[in-house]
Amino acid sequence: MTCTSASLLIGVIGGSGLYHLDNLTTIKTVNPETPWGYPSSPITICALPSGTRVAFVARHGKHHNISPSAVPSRANVAALKHLGVRAILAFSAVGSLREEIVPGHFALPTQIIDRTKGVRPASFFEGTSIVAHAAFGEPFSMRLVKWLEGAVARALEEEGRGVVLHRDKCIVCMEGPQFSTRAESVMYRAWGGDLINMSVLPEAKLAREAELGYALIATATDYDSWRPHSEVVTASQVMQTLQANANTSRHLAAAILEDLHASAQGDLFSEERGSMAFSIMPRSV
Ligand code: ADE
Repeated sequence: MTCTSASLLIGVIGGSGLYHLDNLTTIKTVNPETPWGYPSSPITICALPSGTRVAFVARHGKHHNISPSAVPSRANVAALKHLGVRAILAFSAVGSLREEIVPGHFALPTQIIDRTKGVRPASFFEGTSIVAHAAFGEPFSMRLVKWLEGAVARALEEEGRGVVLHRDKCIVCMEGPQFSTRAESVMYRAWGGDLINMSVLPEAKLAREAELGYALIATATDYDSWRPHSEVVTASQVMQTLQANANTSRHLAAAILEDLHASAQGDLFSEERGSMAFSIMPRSV
């Protein structure tokens, strides 16, 4: 199928501080009920000047009333897919586990360490009689990530605020809502973690099961709790950087979405298509 600008929808999931996008014309707001309930917030369908459509959902609700453990990720991903979305660009505030990733910097992770504690429904197949094992060795859509590495770096440079983009990082996803202890934070560094958040899972797993492209733009707000002579992370510390990061994210989205759509006319969004074909275990007869 060839994609027309009207049919191809890019989904954007906004994290803490990012509750709407800028410079887009709102076409409509929808709130579809899925078999997994309602999404975190009504979904805004917006148009870029070219007519490109983008669907936006605020992960924690428009008023930040949903904790990371309670985000209805299955409903969010299912609703975006239902609307025709083929790739999700997710934003998330993260802690930094590396000195060089300074609060205010952005990063594109390529790997995930799962430290969620099994309390979040993480599969569309849960509660069904279907046994499915999605491939998740590469948890992000690497063609999309590679495209973003160039586009995001260029957009941040044009923005001229000195926001640095880090590539190829490993993100730890923890349960929360409390932040990590110092010992945990040090351990995550030893494991190879570069970033930490509470939100990339199960979102990335569900996007894979839904055969949607998925990439995360991680925006660093703090140094978590591993630095020996620094204070441990607090919510007020996170808040200090959050607003500036959210403003940059909005400008960034406005700058790259048009190009992303244009580039997607090739095979950028088809990476995950059909990836579940051999993931469902055949029933024995
Ligand atoms: N989100 C932002 N900062 C964080 C941190 N230090 N740990 C977990 N999630 C975060």
